[in-house]
Amino acid sequence: FFQTVASPPSSNFLLLGPSGAGKTAFTTLLEAKSSLASNKSHSTHTSQQSTLVTVTLPPTVPTGSNRYRSVNDPSLKEAARNPIKYRVRDTPGHGKLRASQGIAELQAMSQSKDIKTRLRGVVFMVDTAALVDEATLRDTATYLHDVLLFLQKRAKNGSSSKRTTDIPVLVAANKQDLFTALPPGAVREKLEAEIDRIRKSKTKGLLDASADTELEDEEEILGNDEQEAFSFKLLEHEVGVKVDVVGGAVKGDLQEEFGSGVRRWEEWVGMCL
Ligand code: GTP
Ligand code: MG
Repeated sequence: FFQTVASPPSSNFLLLGPSGAGKTAFTTLLEAKSSLASNKSHSTHTSQQSTLVTVTLPPTVPTGSNRYRSVNDPSLKEAARNPIKYRVRDTPGHGKLRASQGIAELQAMSQSKDIKTRLRGVVFMVDTAALVDEATLRDTATYLHDVLLFLQKRAKNGSSSKRTTDIPVLVAANKQDLFTALPPGAVREKLEAEIDRIRKSKTKGLLDASADTELEDEEEILGNDEQEAFSFKLLEHEVGVKVDVVGGAVKGDLQEEFGSGVRRWEEWVGMCL
């Protein structure tokens, strides 16, 4: 059994998203890609516990701190010898486990005081073939809304002198290999429209209730309080929480065609490092 020796992994990413989106399949693929020893493919099943894995960034993926390196750059050879490692926490997506696991992990990891173990980014995975179903769309958007609202509160509570570091969000639009999959642009629009609906019904609920109770900090609205429709761009402008929607596939043809259907997600990870 052979393993490369490399600097200890320190950058953490959190993998969230509804059940069946492909989180564990993605984690398993990253592990297989990182390991020289084995390439066994596990069959996945609904997760009930979160797991932490250490994986390797392919040397050809640029990192945020090394953005402009070219293929001829000697630092690429160095990167191949001493690959960049990062850690991914896979969480169960079942609705009943979100508060105690996914959201709880988000709270714990984002509060880490140690700069070395701080949360670098959140990957929110969605099944783009399942979003045509209204109940699935509502469930997915509700989970994403809660994640973004947490990050908004975190961004607003950070004092200006001691700026909290940004935690960007990647919406990984998975299962693009399926012919029923919505393209990433449509996924973005659907999620934005559904989050807007969730936000509006929440605002209305608050207005109805505020006659006798004072608005609590807990009941903050995502984005801004104006009538403008919700969009990820608005969230970035108003609050500073950045959301990217990027298509890919853990399984299926795309992987064979392009070498890897997860390359663009790895590039997003690289930019966070
Ligand atoms: P929970 O653990 O319940 O939260 O679900 P999960 O997000 O971990 O989903 P999981 O990785 O178990 O994947 C669910 C199913 O989707 C499995 O049968 C995977 O093989 C399948 N799957 C994952 N990614 C893809 C993909 O890109 N394309 C296709 N066609 N199927 C995929
Ligand atoms: Mg799982």
